[in-house]
Amino acid sequence: MNFQTLSYDVIGIGFGPSNLAIAIALEEHQQANEAPLNCCFIEKQPAFEWHGGMLLDNTHLQVSFLKDLVTLRNPSSRYSFINYLHQQRRLESFINLGTFFPSRLEYNDYMRWAATAFKDRVHYGEEVIAVEPLEENGKVEWLQVVSRLKEGAIEHRYARNVIIGIGGYPRIPEVFKSQKHPRIIHSSQYKNCHYRFSRVGEKPRLAVIGAGQSAAEIFRDLMGRYPQGRIDLISRSRALQPSDDSPFVNEIFDPDFTDEIYRTPREQRQSFLRAFSHTNYSVVDLPLIEEIYERLYMQRITGDVRHRYFPSCLIQAVSSSEERLQITLFNKNTGVHKEVEYDGIVLATGYQRDGHHKLLEGLEPWMVSRTVERSYQLPMASGCQARVFLQGCCEETHGIADSLLSVLAVRSKEVVDSLYMPNELKAPLENTG
Ligand SMILES: Cc1cc2nc3c(=O)[nH]c(=O)nc-3n(C[C@H](O)[C@H](O)[C@H](O)COP(=O)(O)OP(=O)(O)OC[C@H]3O[C@@H](n4cnc5c(N)ncnc54)[C@H](O)[C@@H]3O)c2cc1C
Ligand SMILES: NC(=O)c1ccc[n+]([C@@H]2O[C@H](COP(=O)([O-])OP(=O)(O)OC[C@H]3O[C@@H](n4cnc5c(N)ncnc54)[C@H](OP(=O)(O)O)[C@@H]3O)[C@@H](O)[C@H]2O)c1
Repeated sequence: MNFQTLSYDVIGIGFGPSNLAIAIALEEHQQANEAPLNCCFIEKQPAFEWHGGMLLDNTHLQVSFLKDLVTLRNPSSRYSFINYLHQQRRLESFINLGTFFPSRLEYNDYMRWAATAFKDRVHYGEEVIAVEPLEENGKVEWLQVVSRLKEGAIEHRYARNVIIGIGGYPRIPEVFKSQKHPRIIHSSQYKNCHYRFSRVGEKPRLAVIGAGQSAAEIFRDLMGRYPQGRIDLISRSRALQPSDDSPFVNEIFDPDFTDEIYRTPREQRQSFLRAFSHTNYSVVDLPLIEEIYERLYMQRITGDVRHRYFPSCLIQAVSSSEERLQITLFNKNTGVHKEVEYDGIVLATGYQRDGHHKLLEGLEPWMVSRTVERSYQLPMASGCQARVFLQGCCEETHGIADSLLSVLAVRSKEVVDSLYMPNELKAPLENTG
């Protein structure tokens, strides 16, 4: 082990949009004024890809492209979506499209284009498994970042600052946790695994569980893929509900709003997050709801009903054999139980965003609290000079936009400014925990 070559001022864990925005902000900050910080990023995927399992046809960005990796921080950055279009010679054609919402395919390509500029600083194909304190004489100045390579080898790197941007991991409903069947997949794997359904023939019986954007997009995709198949959408909610992206509501996604929500007392903040949860979670773009409704309606005209929506249904039990899956549905409205057989099931049941707790287990004795400061930094005991920043898992304190693209450009500046600021000069905004 060569401590010299593997030590950094900053290590970013994960290289999704959040840490990509940090890489750009660091580069631009250094160009403008400061001495460079020595940094690297560790990403478990083999190459940059933005939710590759959901890169489906006819899906679009859900925020304006003006909320790209840089524009709200530095509109003249070379990493803007507009410059990407210009470099690809598509700017004029994109203008002719007349949209603020590029396809997810194009937006993924934009971010991959930006990520390419940092390929010398990103270690792809390595999963970080722990961040541990290096304690010397009762003090911690360095953190050890432990990662596992694909072949199983373990790598150690050292950093004064660690920025965790690992996104979410699949939320699996309790009744499915013990089921390891290859044709039960989570929405995040959909594009890479749906071929498994076609192995049972041209008319698979499939269920999609959930009522969010992922469930609706997958339901539409499966209906198109298997017009002769029997595809069911099952939700515990009463109806597919539209996301509210009207302009006054949208202000809660403005970067400026972060200060306001952070200052709000805890209970008030929690009730605010509940009240506005339907701007993002368990909601679907209205045109997609209308498209699905019309499709199901058309089948009722012909009487050839192959695709169905079961609202208000709880899944009470699941059993599986190699050939088939069986679920017990309970309809909350009618009180009726029903057994239904499927060949495959897609769990579009969302994500959990607490993966950082496991990574940071070894550091817990040094952590004063699990609640981040306004600067996204975890408060540490006085003997710990090493710093940890969290991104994308601070919804409770920093608002619903925290897991989204909306605040990336501005948040990356806030984190980079803190990296250049000595610990003791910080003046965090008051937060009630
Ligand atoms: C299908 C889908 C579409 C979306 N569309 C939009 C949208 O249009 N607009 C919007 O605002 N938000 C959208 N979101 C929300 C999404 O969270 C953000 O777009 C964005 O991906 C957040 O970036 P991130 O870097 O924080 O997380 P992620 O994009 O999840 O990136 C995290 C990265 O960390 C890596 N990683 C995880 N664990 C480790 C580890 N232990 N070691 C190393 N690497 C690790 C992952 O492989 C991943 O590349 C969407 C989410 C989904 C699921
Ligand atoms: N094109 C795009 O840009 C795009 C595409 C997909 C996703 N996204 C984004 O990705 C994020 C996540 O969206 P998502 O649709 O994956 O997740 P989500 O919005 O969190 O929705 C998850 C769904 O699963 C249901 N669910 C959770 N646990 C369940 C259980 N135990 N039993 C039954 N149902 C359960 C939820 O039901 P309840 O409602 O009852 O809780 C909800 O309907 C959002 O920000 C979304 O906008 C964007």
